Amino acid sequence: MILKRAAELDTMAAAAVINREALGAVEALIAPGVTTAELNAVAEDAILARGGKPAFKGYHGFPGTLCTSVNEVVVHGMPDGRPLEEGDIVSIDIGTWYGGYAADMARTYAIGRISDEAQRLIDATERSLQAGIDAMRPGNRLGDVSAAIQHVVEDAGFWVVREFVGHGIGSTFHEQPNVPNFGRAGTGPVLRPGLVLAIEPMVTVRRTAVEVLEDGWTAPTADGCLAAHVEHTVAVTDDGPWVLTAPESDAHGGVRVLTTASSAGGRTGREAHHGA
Ligand code: MF3
Ligand code: CO
Repeated sequence: MILKRAAELDTMAAAAVINREALGAVEALIAPGVTTAELNAVAEDAILARGGKPAFKGYHGFPGTLCTSVNEVVVHGMPDGRPLEEGDIVSIDIGTWYGGYAADMARTYAIGRISDEAQRLIDATERSLQAGIDAMRPGNRLGDVSAAIQHVVEDAGFWVVREFVGHGIGSTFHEQPNVPNFGRAGTGPVLRPGLVLAIEPMVTVRRTAVEVLEDGWTAPTADGCLAAHVEHTVAVTDDGPWVLTAPESDAHGGVRVLTTASSAGGRTGREAHHGA
């Protein structure tokens, strides 16, 4: 596992700001009638305007700046000309390169009024991400993060996808370790300050497999049930989890003082990152 120095975390935080602002620009346009291709264009412009580079575009040949996964699509949906419709849910996944480092995040949005079940699915998926984030503390183990996510999802009566997992992230987009959304507490590698993970629970209404269509990307549920996907890029610090991709208003835990053991030159407490 690669541990980042404080200066590297600062660069990742800058990538994360661009990424979340671009998602904010997309979010403002989400409504019935808009196409995912239109959202994709807005995301690309927003990233480029801020000096970043879309991380997904061209990655193993992926065509989009966004993954737009509608209804039964779990992940890796490709933006297209289909207008979003009232009652749909759409998971929007976005990644940005900046200064040699990557940020990765996703959220699932409701298009107008959605079913109670769809709303409960989104809520449980968001709560599971938060539980995983809360477990990102020095001395905990990776299995604590995985188990926390799984527990919230299963408590809500939903199913954790096994076919795709979260990942380490930094100067490569996907790096060690893999971060399953299921597992056993107290197992796996110990979390240390400077570790950065993209935690991304993918949750389905029922127990079902996930398939990949002939386009090589689109990954729907085998039985057609709804799926949700949310993601944050999160650093372990001595003061607890630092959610790099969270809007300031969501960054929980308040002030983050970076005192990573791996800080360049042994600097400690150099930066205070203010959440609220
Ligand atoms: N968050 C997704 C992941 O980590 C997004 C990758 S999309 C791809 O796998 F197109 F770039 F593959
Ligand atoms: Co990811």
